[in-house]
Amino acid sequence: MEPTPRNQLYLVAVLLLSAATCVFSVKKCPNCGLTSVPYPLSTQPTCGDQSYKIRCDAGVLIFDTLNNSYPIISINPSNQRLVIQPANLLPNTCISSDFIHLGIQLNSSLPFNITGDNTVMLFNCSESIRDHPLNCSTSSLCYLYVKGEEYSQCRDSTLCCTFKAGGSASAYRIRVREKGCRAYRSFIGLDWGWPVDKWPDPGVEIQWVLPQEPVCESQVDCDADSTCEPNRADGVKRCYCKVGLQWNPIQGICSQTGGCQSPGGCSRQKKIALIVGLTFGLSALVLVITIAILLHKRYKRIREAQERLARHCEEILSVDGSKTAKLFKSKEIKKATDNFSKDCLIGAGGYGEVYKGCLEDGTVVAVKCAKIGNIKALLQFSNMDFLTPP
Ligand SMILES: *[C@@H]1O[C@H](CO)[C@@H](O)[C@H](O)[C@H]1NC(C)=O
Ligand SMILES: *[C@@H]1O[C@H](CO)[C@@H](O)[C@H](O)[C@H]1NC(C)=O
Ligand SMILES: *[C@@H]1O[C@H](CO)[C@@H](O)[C@H](O)[C@H]1NC(C)=O
Ligand SMILES: *[C@@H]1O[C@H](CO)[C@@H](O)[C@H](O)[C@H]1NC(C)=O
Ligand SMILES: *[C@@H]1O[C@H](CO)[C@@H](O)[C@H](O)[C@H]1NC(C)=O
Repeated sequence: MEPTPRNQLYLVAVLLLSAATCVFSVKKCPNCGLTSVPYPLSTQPTCGDQSYKIRCDAGVLIFDTLNNSYPIISINPSNQRLVIQPANLLPNTCISSDFIHLGIQLNSSLPFNITGDNTVMLFNCSESIRDHPLNCSTSSLCYLYVKGEEYSQCRDSTLCCTFKAGGSASAYRIRVREKGCRAYRSFIGLDWGWPVDKWPDPGVEIQWVLPQEPVCESQVDCDADSTCEPNRADGVKRCYCKVGLQWNPIQGICSQTGGCQSPGGCSRQKKIALIVGLTFGLSALVLVITIAILLHKRYKRIREAQERLARHCEEILSVDGSKTAKLFKSKEIKKATDNFSKDCLIGAGGYGEVYKGCLEDGTVVAVKCAKIGNIKALLQFSNMDFLTPP
């Protein structure tokens, strides 16, 4: 195929895109199996941000808690959230398999916490748990849940309670223990009005704090857009973006100021741009169509008026019936009068000039020529008063 200018444009775009991904992949970790590992999550010391360590084990991403590990079922980098697969029950008991580890316990020094979108149910609880800010009433959702198949093992246990995670007490743990409750289940974004068979799959949603600039020892650790400098507050050296660029914590790069760096704002800004663009585009389209319709109507009106005029002229001219009148085209008249030559001019009156003309069939005619702008004279002359404005 010939390299037309357009093809070359595409080529440039493709090259730019691959260059961008190249720069980007310096910091982003490679895929784990088929799963992408978004920045700042890190599976290796050479990629991502080391405060956001997770593990890649035989193609499965693993989230390590203080004393246990859970598989990661999904990651959403745009809102900094991931979902882990919580523990199941020990066979034939109402005791969670991570009971020995006291349930899910996050290291509160790390930038991860449990989101408020988790509805947590605790089962096989001792009476003392009622003191806590939990809903342990018999109308609580957990009683509905144990009526189903999955947690039927917990149906006969003494007490169960439900609460929404995310408060300060549950930001870093979902606790099971001998003196409290011995099993748990968590559902993300649960609408408490839904019937149990419409509930989503169980999971625990964890969010991460947007990352600061990456830590560095020297300029070698930073890219061309940033310089390795100590922070004034804590003295930690980080790759700070150069003047004119701003840290983009979602992509982990320095991007143009005025671009989108606001937390979670990228997609929002894109959306706003899209809406504005669409609105303008549609308005322009509507405007163009309206103008086209108006022009078409005007054109039609003029054509109709012209046709009406022609018909009327014919009627007037054929009034005596003896001789049917004929309408001439301006070309024919021009030819007959030798293009209104001075030689043919035989007179001039209030309404305009009169020429002598000779038609193709040899008939000699007088051609009256109305003065431009002298409509009144023209109407008088031809009785065409239907054209007079009302
Ligand atoms: C509830 O917990 C207690 C104490 O750990 C345990 O002995 C009991 O078997 C549990 N109930 C069920 C139904 O598993
Ligand atoms: C968790 O692990 C730490 C050491 O890594 C240990 O001291 C602690 O007892 C463990 N806790 C539980 C509940 O397993
Ligand atoms: C929690 O994380 C901090 C920061 O990475 C680390 O220094 C500390 O050892 C961790 N605590 C435990 C108990 O693993
Ligand atoms: C407990 O939850 C049920 C069902 O969602 C609700 O009807 C009830 O009012 C709650 N009770 C308390 C004390 O919050
Ligand atoms: C959990 O982390 C988010 C940021 O990712 C933060 O806004 C929120 O305050 C934290 N919640 C708690 C209870 O620390």
